[in-house]
Amino acid sequence: MTNREHFGSRAAVIMAMAGSAIGLGNIWRFPFIVGEYGGAAFILIYILCCFFLSLPILLSESIIGRRTHQNTFGAMSTLAPGTKWKWLGLLTIVTPIIILSYYSVVGGWSFAYLLKACSLQFNPENAEAVTGMFATFSSSAWGPLACLVVFLGLTALIIFSGVKKGIEKFSKISMPVLFILIVVIAVYSVTLPGAMDGVRYLVKPDFSKLSAGAFSAALGQSFFSLSLGVGTMLIYSSYIRKDENILASGTGTALFDMLFAILAGFAVMPAVFAAGIAPSSGPGLVFETLPYIFAKMGAGGQFLSSAVAILFFLTILVAALSSSISMMEVGVAYMVEEKGISRGKATAGIFFVALFLGILCSLSFGPISGVKFLGNTFFNACDKLCSNYLMTLGALMFSIFVGWKMDKASVHDELTNGGSLKGNSKVFPVLYFLIKYIAPLAIAAIFITGLLA
Ligand code: ALA
Repeated sequence: MTNREHFGSRAAVIMAMAGSAIGLGNIWRFPFIVGEYGGAAFILIYILCCFFLSLPILLSESIIGRRTHQNTFGAMSTLAPGTKWKWLGLLTIVTPIIILSYYSVVGGWSFAYLLKACSLQFNPENAEAVTGMFATFSSSAWGPLACLVVFLGLTALIIFSGVKKGIEKFSKISMPVLFILIVVIAVYSVTLPGAMDGVRYLVKPDFSKLSAGAFSAALGQSFFSLSLGVGTMLIYSSYIRKDENILASGTGTALFDMLFAILAGFAVMPAVFAAGIAPSSGPGLVFETLPYIFAKMGAGGQFLSSAVAILFFLTILVAALSSSISMMEVGVAYMVEEKGISRGKATAGIFFVALFLGILCSLSFGPISGVKFLGNTFFNACDKLCSNYLMTLGALMFSIFVGWKMDKASVHDELTNGGSLKGNSKVFPVLYFLIKYIAPLAIAAIFITGLLA
């Protein structure tokens, strides 16, 4: 594959992989999960999960991707020719397309909320109406559908531009901007009157508040946040050059993702406490509670609160885009490399499949909310199928593949660049132990517990 594109530098690799990781999972999901599971103590468990379980999976995907420089299907077929492992390659093409479809619905909402913030709809006069705005908007048909098309269209445009001109360029610009934006919002949030209770909630662990499900919630959150088990880290790693240090880029990605999630916690929770709202308000935190807070704060200065609202929804939109492109790339790379389809046609193909599913997901909040799959709306069924089963299954299989199917020498070779990275060689025994035993056992235990629950 001589004409395959590569990321230009280590910074580009980390920005792209962090871009895939940093998304709605960090800004929308992390704060409300922290709120539901009791704050600082949960964050500590989350950090442990990231390092001891998620990082080994990320490295497993990196090892497979960089070793083969191929798409997920091609990679599995090359490393285990003539075996059923190719099904893992196919699974990780289907899963990100399903995620892309419902993820784009939420991405579309953030676009809509950016427009609402720009047109100053979150103001003190309509503060009480703002909370109900979300239910009205999401259950309508045309508005969310139009925003879905815009979001998916932007995703397709970046992917169509290619690995270097699309993914790398967008990630290199968007990641620093995202970090600046989230720091600005966090500073605003912690300086609000009454915000210190929120800060204490995030930094002072109270282990008595931890519930039984906290461990599996922390693991699920770190998987979702690092985009594991869906082939995105594999495909991005397949664009990493042979002389790059994949342990360094993987660890950098995990650190940036974690840092961003914690900053998002500081952007959201102090404001929630300052407004006297329960931190356990659930998934509505970002689209219902925060606009209400922005509206209320308008009383103290409409310009400042509107500016913060605009920055906040811009942050969500850009972060969501940097993740959605990675999900589209998995399928596009497969179609280009395995089926010989041009990048333009492959992008259009994935766009239309994701759009079709996305339309059903979007309408399931309103016109077709009565259509249920095992008691779930179409959106919830897609989310549950992917987050609870397919992602976990993919992650489990990747770690089993690298730990048990690949030979240890190849794994060592890939993680240490043929033994030339001495520091990596020193930590290799620990990493290999985590990949081979700890990660699969812990994931299997949590997966089975989830099935029985
Ligand atoms: N990793 C992506 C996110 O956190 C899916 O949003």
